[in-house]
Amino acid sequence: MKIVGESEVAEGKSVKFRFERKGKYVDGFVARFQGELVAFENKCRHLPLSLDYGDNQFFSRDGKHLICQTHGAIYEPISGLCVRGPCDGESLKPIKIEIRNGAIWLAD
Ligand code: FES
Repeated sequence: MKIVGESEVAEGKSVKFRFERKGKYVDGFVARFQGELVAFENKCRHLPLSLDYGDNQFFSRDGKHLICQTHGAIYEPISGLCVRGPCDGESLKPIKIEIRNGAIWLAD
């Protein structure tokens, strides 16, 4: 499944997507941080809530971390590791992606 054109995910920006896995919908997002593309499930590791408020806002105000809007858990953008907040030490679930023909594809 094609997610989005590679150039459509600018530095510090994200694009949300949804796909089906074993009959269930999974919400995810792809983001670019320090030039690198990452993709995670849009689900906090504290409670099963989306990280954003449906507004595609995943980065902290300073742009250095991913943040859960509900209780403020802070995640490392590349590894997905929670470094502060109620789920400290847990990690966002990565989604496998691949870059092909100028686009980002789901490889999961
Ligand atoms: S639901 Fe994300 S920090 Fe509580």
